Amino acid sequence: MVRVLIVYDSRTGNTEKLAKALASGACKVSGIEVVLKRAREVSSQDVASADAYAFGSPSHFGIMSGEILTMFTNIYPERHSLAGKPACVFTTGAGSQVTALENIDRILGAFNPKWIKPGIAVEGEPKQKDLEQAEKLGEKLAKAALSK
Ligand SMILES: Cc1cc2nc3c(=O)[nH]c(=O)nc-3n(C[C@H](O)[C@H](O)[C@H](O)COP(=O)(O)O)c2cc1C
Repeated sequence: MVRVLIVYDSRTGNTEKLAKALASGACKVSGIEVVLKRAREVSSQDVASADAYAFGSPSHFGIMSGEILTMFTNIYPERHSLAGKPACVFTTGAGSQVTALENIDRILGAFNPKWIKPGIAVEGEPKQKDLEQAEKLGEKLAKAALSK
């Protein structure tokens, strides 16, 4: 099986809704196994064994949340695992969601992924159209993982 790892942080559920929609989109692609984890649960083994990645965060003070930054810091020694593999980013916020997405893009750039863009930046609670967009992104990511 080709594995897609979806990592997110969420306090009030908005980013989690996008994460779950990405997961259901990725699951539609046959031959794909999806691993959905909160940032604080992610291990180096999760990162090493994945073939594609999605990272989701709420905007906290205009940047990624502390939990997501800590996760990137923890997996930095595993960065060779991510290099060249498909990866995308999604965020929610109350206005600064695009700034937070750009912030994650910059940090994730240090891991040299194969970018799956555009990512998704949603204001407030994701609506049906946002969830559909997230499903499509999950599907696109999964297909990119298979074609590696
Ligand atoms: C500590 C904290 C700081 C925040 N700072 C910002 C901010 O600077 N800009 C912004 O647009 N939203 C900010 N927000 C709002 C959240 O990004 C927004 O409500 C988001 O959708 C929450 O996602 P979640 O439900 O997945 O936790 C902040 C929320 C918290 C808890």
